[in-house]
Amino acid sequence: MSDLITVILAAGKGTRMKSKLPKVLHKVAGKSMVQHVLDAAKDAGATRNIVVTGFGSDMVRASINAECVEQKEQLGTGHAVMQAESLLKGEDATVMVLCGDTPLLTGELLKSFYESHKRVGCVATVLTAIVPDPTGYGRVIRKPDETFMKIVEDKDADENERHVKEVNSGIYCFNAKALFSALKEVKNDNAQGEYYLPDVLEILGNKGEKISAFSTRQYELTLGINSRAQLAEAEKILRKRKNEELMESGVTLMDPASTFIDADVKIGKDTVIYPFTWIEGNTVIGEDCELGPNIRLQNVKIGNGVTGQFTYAHDAVIDDNVILGQFVHIRPDSHLSENVKIGNFVEVKNSNIGKDTKLPHLSYIGDSDIGDDVNMGCGTITVNYDGKEKFRTKVGNHAFVGCNSNLIAPVEVADNAYIGAGSTITDAVPENALALGRARQVNIHNWKDKRK
Ligand code: UD1
Ligand code: MG
Repeated sequence: MSDLITVILAAGKGTRMKSKLPKVLHKVAGKSMVQHVLDAAKDAGATRNIVVTGFGSDMVRASINAECVEQKEQLGTGHAVMQAESLLKGEDATVMVLCGDTPLLTGELLKSFYESHKRVGCVATVLTAIVPDPTGYGRVIRKPDETFMKIVEDKDADENERHVKEVNSGIYCFNAKALFSALKEVKNDNAQGEYYLPDVLEILGNKGEKISAFSTRQYELTLGINSRAQLAEAEKILRKRKNEELMESGVTLMDPASTFIDADVKIGKDTVIYPFTWIEGNTVIGEDCELGPNIRLQNVKIGNGVTGQFTYAHDAVIDDNVILGQFVHIRPDSHLSENVKIGNFVEVKNSNIGKDTKLPHLSYIGDSDIGDDVNMGCGTITVNYDGKEKFRTKVGNHAFVGCNSNLIAPVEVADNAYIGAGSTITDAVPENALALGRARQVNIHNWKDKRK
């Protein structure tokens, strides 16, 4: 059983983002940066996650499902970690410190880092890497025998130290007790007047504790986002990663470069995604679907064998073998049952559509419960709004609604009923009846001659 608890530093403002939103709440691949870090921590086996908030604390707290602690003044990374102490009293755990602005992290990297820390058995391990340009980072200073000595911040480094290319990623594993006792000894007599977390490593080392440095080749996974340009770079990397993962699992992406799939989307085998397609949020798609071109799906649950093109669907459920499109809008709280066909220029809102039912062309179906095997003729409109309130329309199984009909809600059309084309239906239609709600046609003979 893992003894891993994470402390995620997310108090900073992120000045370079030039944003009202705290930096860690900016989204990459449909998910906030701090949520990406939390998900990686969970994948690595973390049993608790504590987020240190500061700038925009309430917003951060409201957006995540994790324990939070506020750092009222940002006095440095060491001071930030200290805020979590009260939540970790008596815990004899491994504390992994992470930053909330590193959305490229993977559970895999964090897990191998944690496992190495446990295997070596030191009180602290720092994740490091060799980078071509170490400017701005803390440098890793090693003893003559190559073992870890300390970290020196860029602003405090001397000429020789500045040339060191091995840097601190800002990710560490600590024994909880050793961490919090050493933090009490950290001072702020440095170039930035801050309490530096990396100083804990030197303090512990001076006490004779063994400290190790775990150097990774995948340094790009630990990169922090500081600007909108870096945010866009991260977006590109995460989308590519998601596309590759899906193709690897048996999904065809006809043109990955024009396909935008959020990190948490799930897609079944042998589904084919055509170009210019956006699949967002918690969307789940089954097997053997053909979706796109030009589809946008947000939080939609889609069964197997669904085909669709030129469609926008959000917060809806679409069952097996439904056909959608083109130019279709499926709005929230709609449920399309098996084999439903939604054709050209149709909008469905807050409605249940029964299996085998057809809405082939030019309809608005809102606040409705439509039965199984119903044919809604071209141009059928549910008139659901009287300017003040919304009302429901109910249509029974096997009903046939003629073209260009208005169903004025609240109204019920029973099973097997027929509605003549062009009807405006205001009253209930009984089972097996034919309802005609239109003016009778009048022919005026020789009208053309009389007009002269
Ligand atoms: C830190 C490390 C540096 C390392 C680098 C890697 C220190 C002193 N230095 O430097 O060795 O190479 O990360 O990116 O730790 N934060 C708080 N509260 C604070 C200060 C910071 O929550 O009081 C958070 C920030 O929001 C950020 C993270 O801690 O998410 C790191 O802080 P930052 O100021 O970016 O540290 P660096 O100067 O980059
Ligand atoms: Mg930084």
